[in-house]
Amino acid sequence: MISNKAQEIPPFIVMDVLEKAQELEVLGENIIHLEVGEPDFDTPECIKRAAQRAIEEGKTHYTHSLGLWELRDAIAQHYNAQYGLSVSAHNVIVTAGTSPAMFLVFAALINPGDEVILPNPHYACYPNFIKFLGGTPVYVPLREENGFIYDIKELKRYLTARTKAIVINSPANPTGMLTPAEVFKKLACLGIPLISDEIYHGLVYEGKEHSALEFTKRAFVLNGFSKAYAMTGWRLGYLIAPKEFIRPIQKIQQNFFICAPSIAQYAAIAALKEAQKDVVRMRQTYDKRRRYVFKALKEMGIKLNTCPQGAFYFFINVKHFIRSVSGLPNSYALAFDILKKVKVAVTPGVDFGQMGEGYLRLSYANSLEKIKEGLKRLKAYFGVHEN
Ligand SMILES: Cc1ncc(COP(=O)(O)O)c(C=O)c1O
Repeated sequence: MISNKAQEIPPFIVMDVLEKAQELEVLGENIIHLEVGEPDFDTPECIKRAAQRAIEEGKTHYTHSLGLWELRDAIAQHYNAQYGLSVSAHNVIVTAGTSPAMFLVFAALINPGDEVILPNPHYACYPNFIKFLGGTPVYVPLREENGFIYDIKELKRYLTARTKAIVINSPANPTGMLTPAEVFKKLACLGIPLISDEIYHGLVYEGKEHSALEFTKRAFVLNGFSKAYAMTGWRLGYLIAPKEFIRPIQKIQQNFFICAPSIAQYAAIAALKEAQKDVVRMRQTYDKRRRYVFKALKEMGIKLNTCPQGAFYFFINVKHFIRSVSGLPNSYALAFDILKKVKVAVTPGVDFGQMGEGYLRLSYANSLEKIKEGLKRLKAYFGVHEN
């Protein structure tokens, strides 16, 4: 019999959309992909070359469970240079992607019944990790009129004696919004450990990205190479944790994962030391697309309070359209209707929690040409219904 845990875990809806879109592609349909949160760029050459060298030199064995020392040191130095910190390589654990790092943090913090504060909307997988480990996600609404960032006064109402940690993700998936320093400061003052998902750092176009470690030592940083370095398939991430957590987390890593992939670790050293020019190039391209999408959405009559400052997403409010125009029940039905009628794949907001209902997430990790075509089709879709 299939376990309750396996039965209860919800699907990652964006994957359902992607798979449906792929089915249509097999039938010969021309689909524009604005759903996936994956860079459309190829991994930079210097990173690929480092991986090839690692293979040729036979560096294909298990590494230390905490990761290669040279990589841990490069990560610490990167954080110190970027945010003016004094992180030690001893506090860095290299993982097979940010997702395993998330598992390790939650596993090291949560006892059954413990609560973890999550933003809502939020990255779809956070609550599933927490529930899988016996914890309870506690959702704090992020309001569009507040730029989709935490309202600390409101957040305080959700704290209890069982609150183990507060998750923050800036710039955020699905909104692209950046949390300002004052909010980090206030969060740090609450005295509760912060779990800061910094996976979209390096992809900030306006304002300044902040690490939670600038504000408190009681922070767990999650980060990885998937987004800024276009390395999703390499599966490499890391965790920066307080000293007393390193050994417990190492034991979990040894048991569950042994270590991160060796070849990807050598590639990641090159990413940090040699690929900064590539990061800048990709960031500039994303920024051009972001500006284009912002203008185009405005012209389509979609209201955005502010332009998202980071990541590669727009989170657009289509509540009025769903309620009064479409005859569809929710964002899920809307996303599949759009896919069916105009062949554009978008992610329904409900994938990111209840506060995401009534929204669609559009990713601009696609070529400007494809984005233009996708928006043209969306305009036709919304326009036709408007008449
Ligand atoms: C906010 C956020 N955190 C973590 C991840 C997972 O990253 P990785 O590929 O490093 O596991 C994603 C992927 O989309 C994400 O959006």
